Amino acid sequence: MGHPATAWDQNSVLEVVKDWNGIDQVVLRVPRGASARVSLHGGQVVSWKNERGEELLFTSSKAIFKPSRAMRGGIPICFPQFGNCGSLEQHGFARNKMWSIDSDPPPLKNDDDKGKVSVDLLLKPSEDDLKCWPHCYEFRLRVSLTTNGVLSMISRVRNINGKPFSFSFAYHTYLSVSDISEVRIEGLETLDYLDNLCQRKRFTEQGDAVTFESEVDRIYLGSPNVIAVLDHEKKRTFLIKKKGLPDVVVWNPWEKKSKSIPDLGDEEYKQMLCVDGAVVERPITLKPGEEWTGRLDLTAIPSTHFI
Ligand code: BG6
Repeated sequence: MGHPATAWDQNSVLEVVKDWNGIDQVVLRVPRGASARVSLHGGQVVSWKNERGEELLFTSSKAIFKPSRAMRGGIPICFPQFGNCGSLEQHGFARNKMWSIDSDPPPLKNDDDKGKVSVDLLLKPSEDDLKCWPHCYEFRLRVSLTTNGVLSMISRVRNINGKPFSFSFAYHTYLSVSDISEVRIEGLETLDYLDNLCQRKRFTEQGDAVTFESEVDRIYLGSPNVIAVLDHEKKRTFLIKKKGLPDVVVWNPWEKKSKSIPDLGDEEYKQMLCVDGAVVERPITLKPGEEWTGRLDLTAIPSTHFI
């Protein structure tokens, strides 16, 4: 995919390549072989591979790589609106915008640079954007890959407006799984959730773990900061650690809904599961000059490590 444009680092751990639309993608590589790829379109992570070169994120075989929309897969950023509850387009506009590389980001507290390769991206509203969402903000996204292949994303949203504004947010993470029927999520048991399939009615999770046998589209509220997605067949567990992101969205469209999604293959729901660190129930409100930070760390661990 694409060709190298710039190498920024002597060890070639960070390079910028072009995708087939000519849009820049930043490739992060660590010496043991793990890699990640971030598109400037949407600030979307489009690939995350472990040290064996196995892809850990799902991308639809029918994904549309057009500059005007987010491709189906990877990790689109939902901002400043999650879902369709609001006046903006579904999941907000950030995933459909061109971001830029921020070569001089303000320092980030509690983020140690050692043993990782990172890129900083920036999104600011254009004149046109201000017409649909009249708030001045700076959205900084740092995507890092550690030596051990942990993918870390830190979002900072700053209000540079004269008035307060509110937003919701999600790292809409498409995990690649072997077979959705064999997957379970631990860490959400006993939590309340809003069910998007029942007009966001509130229920309480009753199972020992979340498992899948039909369409699921839920927002789990006030979740712990670590949850696990166990994939038996692949013998792999994803650990999802988060900060500043109280909610977790779980989505699998299952058979019928998949058929209505043009950029998703009819059977592909079996190989994907969205588990998003998010802020949905109580949107963030920032006063002028205030900043919000939301962090997600994704680790893929062979399940044998737990025995
Ligand atoms: C999930 C939502 O996060 O994203 C679902 O909970 C939605 O309701 C899904 O269908 C996909 O959204 P989109 O806009 O990327 O097709």
